[in-house]
Amino acid sequence: QNSDSRVLLKMYSDAAKLYSHILLKTENGTQALKYLNNRDLGNDLIETFNIGYAPSNNDLLLQFFKGRDVSEDVLRKSGLFAENQEGQLFDRFRDRVMIPITDESGNIVAFSGRVLDKNASTAKYLNSPETSIFNKGKTLFNLSNAKKEIREKSNVILFEGFMDVISAYKAGVTNGVASMGTSLTDDQLYTLSRLTNQINVCYDGDDPGVEATYRALTQLNDDRFTYGVISIPDKKDPDEYIRSEGAEKFQNLTNNGVQTPISFILNYFKRNYNLNNEHDQLEFLNQSLHEIVKLQSPVEVDMYVSRVADEMGVSKEAINKELDTLRRQLA
Ligand code: UTP
Ligand code: MN
Ligand code: MN
Ligand code: MN
Ligand code: MN
Repeated sequence: QNSDSRVLLKMYSDAAKLYSHILLKTENGTQALKYLNNRDLGNDLIETFNIGYAPSNNDLLLQFFKGRDVSEDVLRKSGLFAENQEGQLFDRFRDRVMIPITDESGNIVAFSGRVLDKNASTAKYLNSPETSIFNKGKTLFNLSNAKKEIREKSNVILFEGFMDVISAYKAGVTNGVASMGTSLTDDQLYTLSRLTNQINVCYDGDDPGVEATYRALTQLNDDRFTYGVISIPDKKDPDEYIRSEGAEKFQNLTNNGVQTPISFILNYFKRNYNLNNEHDQLEFLNQSLHEIVKLQSPVEVDMYVSRVADEMGVSKEAINKELDTLRRQLA
């Protein structure tokens, strides 16, 4: 670690302390604290995740670090400030709930700031830019907290959002991480591969989340892992599900509701067809067989052949014949 990085780590740690103090101990933080409490984030959880609040001032953090003789050069490299047209620095994060992002050892290396007002014209989440201590593609939110549990449970749950990770943690599901709003990189997969060989994708249950799950499953073909899918009902995201259905139901879902990728994919295809219509039935069947044919295990093949046969009211024999034809075509 060079001296710049050491200075930046100290700055992020100090900034987090300041933001946390403002949230929990000052008048300025009242509204943000109310917002978090309304989301069922109590002070315990706020402290566990070191959550804070950046008030609407333009230069609160700037003055704080200037008072500590941090050089202009370091201020610029820190990513905590943005520059106006005159080249002057100002606080990058204003009027946002501040969620610290840690590296694998638990050092704060970045922030994600959430707006309080969901109708605000700016992005809902603003993330720190990359710096000498923050590489987006190598970072997994909550990994430092979740590491031990990932090993013990022999699986990691991959969430879409930071709030999903935090709510799950509160609900006792403590082996969750989230990427920084992108699909998993090779570096992140390598990091996870040292801890577990099972990745369970638990994205939002809304349409974008379902699409993202399908994309993730088709992209994640790293054979160090087996994959599972935890589908959240009613188009909710995990955080919303936990808040409306409770911790126990969510725990149950994560323990007993893990679908195989093929099971998810067959359901995913099904959404696009009207299965009362014979043409659609045949299309769906054909599309399904193209996935089933990829399965390695004969037992698995048999299981999903049975499922499709049942659902479509055709014989397993006929489906197996189709599969044979398909295998020959693909060979
Ligand atoms: P979502 O829109 O599902 O947000 O985006 P969320 O996690 O449910 O957030 P809440 O509950 O409204 O607070 C999922 C993730 O995509 C990234 C964030 O990582 C977010 O958690 N994202 C989303 C951004 O980076 N910027 C955005 O403006 C929106
Ligand atoms: Mn979403
Ligand atoms: Mn969401
Ligand atoms: Mn949400
Ligand atoms: Mn074909």
